[in-house]
Amino acid sequence: MKHSLRFALAGTPVLAFAVLSCLSVTAVCQRHQAAPAPTGPWMNTSLSPDERADLVLKEMTLDEKVALLHGIGMPTDEPVTLENAPSNRGVGYAVGVPRLGIPGIDMSDAAYGVRSSGVNGRYSTALPANVAAAASWDVDAAYEYGALIGRELRAQGYNMSLGGGVDITREPRNGRTFEYLGEDPVLAGTLVAKLIEGTQSEHVIGDIKHYAFNDQESGRNSVNNTISKRAARESDLLAFEIGVTKGHPAAVMCSYNRVNGDFACENKWLLTDVLKKDWQFPGFVLSDWGGTHSTEKASAAGLDNEQPGKFFYGDKYKAAVEAGTIPTSELDEHVHRILRSMFAAGVIDYPRQRSVVDPFAGFETARKIEEGGIVLLKNNKAALPLDAAKIRTIAVIGAHSDVGMISGGGSAQVDPIGGNAIKPAGTGATHWQEQIWFPTSPLKAIQARAPRATVKYDPGTDPAAAAAAAKGADVAIVFAYEWESEGMDLPSLALPVYQGVNQDNLIAQVAAANPHTIVVLETGSPVSMPWVEAPAAILEAWFGGSDGANALGNVLFGSVNPSGKLPNTFPKSDADLPHPTVTQPPPESQHFSGPASPEQWAKGLPPFERPYDEGVKVGYKWYDAENKAVLFPFGYGLSYTTYSYSGLTVTPGSTVKVTFTVANTGGRSGAEIAEVYAALPASAQEPPKRLVGFTKVKLDAKQKQTVTVEVDPKYLSIFDEQKDGWTLVPGDYTIMVGGSSDKLPLKATVSLK
Ligand code: BGC
Repeated sequence: MKHSLRFALAGTPVLAFAVLSCLSVTAVCQRHQAAPAPTGPWMNTSLSPDERADLVLKEMTLDEKVALLHGIGMPTDEPVTLENAPSNRGVGYAVGVPRLGIPGIDMSDAAYGVRSSGVNGRYSTALPANVAAAASWDVDAAYEYGALIGRELRAQGYNMSLGGGVDITREPRNGRTFEYLGEDPVLAGTLVAKLIEGTQSEHVIGDIKHYAFNDQESGRNSVNNTISKRAARESDLLAFEIGVTKGHPAAVMCSYNRVNGDFACENKWLLTDVLKKDWQFPGFVLSDWGGTHSTEKASAAGLDNEQPGKFFYGDKYKAAVEAGTIPTSELDEHVHRILRSMFAAGVIDYPRQRSVVDPFAGFETARKIEEGGIVLLKNNKAALPLDAAKIRTIAVIGAHSDVGMISGGGSAQVDPIGGNAIKPAGTGATHWQEQIWFPTSPLKAIQARAPRATVKYDPGTDPAAAAAAAKGADVAIVFAYEWESEGMDLPSLALPVYQGVNQDNLIAQVAAANPHTIVVLETGSPVSMPWVEAPAAILEAWFGGSDGANALGNVLFGSVNPSGKLPNTFPKSDADLPHPTVTQPPPESQHFSGPASPEQWAKGLPPFERPYDEGVKVGYKWYDAENKAVLFPFGYGLSYTTYSYSGLTVTPGSTVKVTFTVANTGGRSGAEIAEVYAALPASAQEPPKRLVGFTKVKLDAKQKQTVTVEVDPKYLSIFDEQKDGWTLVPGDYTIMVGGSSDKLPLKATVSLK
């Protein structure tokens, strides 16, 4: 009751704003009401999206066409104007064609939930970070993730999502690693496709981003990433290819960086040759915010829409069409793509309409996804799950675990209800580059599950005091975290020192004081663990979302059996990475703190080089090929039960069918992620193995199940630059199956051609 009142009130300012704007800005109000209901022949739903788009296009003036090619600035940052009034104050708005009843495109960031909702007086769910969803390896969870985002966007009046990040983890110190879906293109691509399907099922335009190779934040607006076509197509681009061809997003956001010399948003190879021709993407490409750098070049390369403003795609674009330097057919093609995507996603047939977000459903979805994504990294002598009946004292230490859990920042940031948990209530909106803690308290979740135990909190700011608190307890649970955000990279894989506290040292001291120490990590990226031998158990909880603490509590006390597996390798140290440090831009190429003005950014900052000389060897492919031992391998994760694998058969055909049996050999029900890898014939000259399929199997204690994973032949192929296409190299393929990339008990060799 208390809750519902709070949420009902949270919606009030929006209503107040709408009423006020009608009273005081009459013109705005009239315009709002004047938009005619769409009635033209294009409303015939038996026609295809392409046919409907063409019917609209025929009626449009040059000005109307150009207006569809750009945004009108970021409503979030600007006063209400005639143009942006119908928007929801998100990050982008394109005006549509009001005369013909074609609505505006109202965009919000929505990586792990709808951005800027608190500041707009609304509520939205923070799902666990995207990397946590990837750790679930669960296609149904990915769909639910996207559907929740679509639902809440729609409820808030938006009709386009800017989510769907799928740049693979080529650089694990990238500050946006939490927004992405791990280091493997088949895993990331499969999950993003499902996420997009979920979002678009709610009649919201889905987008995948940042196309492509935007793998570090340092110098992201100037860096030139060089890579061979073969390595590109088999690594980062394969994730996008799967996402685009299986998820059918209506939009793709091109990225800030340069690729092989050209900015991604004016890169003909990326936008036209690969995306639009080879993958037959029928939707539209919009630039990342400020990622457009030209008019004629970008247009010819395949950029359809500039965001958030109209530096190049407004008056300059119109002038270019009038001067004949941009052919009308090219303009029409861009407009057609935008319109057909609006029809295809359903934003015209199902106009956006505000409703009330259901926060309770949101909490439940967020909790379940987090429960499926938490990874149990270590569990000596079954230290977990905790037995509430036996434990009398628990020391909960560090990382504000008394009040909340950290979230990822930047444009992905979701506003917590009531504000930042570590600040006094009501301190207001979230700010760029501020650590935001969600009010989901691990301490309370632990106490609730161990009602008879004395649960004490120590802030962990003094490692010696924390160790003393741990010493006297039956169990010590020490939390450590690493905050990540757009706009920065991580200096190293080490857990950071926050406010003078060396978290590695804190963990080491606590674990030395209490043999029953459980470490809970809240990170988006892999971290090194010089103390790994010391604690009894380690959990990776990622950024847990709105209800992270309950998910964690359920895993700690065993009402949920952990089933997540790592979507990123945890290397031993920075020295083992392909590039031991993140390549930094020179001052003149520095976007975030350098001297550059908006005009200079628009023109393009001078490039600096970050060659992708590791090529296709991203993540585990690198460690395998270079023979480097890792801390925790890709695909690794423990359970409270045990599984065994048997009976592999591999049947070639239009897809390669890999059939095997998974048995739950332990005493608890659980869900096992079964992973299928392939080693290609030596003549293919590929890294030792690659993931080609996976499935998550739910099994009761002692139950077994025979499953078949169908492998797309493309996942077994190489990209042949000569042929400019995928080729299956004839020869012997070893198919390997098991529960972790380093533990694949089943092997079979099959000859393919
Ligand atoms: C980010 C995008 C985001 C956009 C709008 C950019 O800085 O790279 O991911 O969608 O801003 O906020």
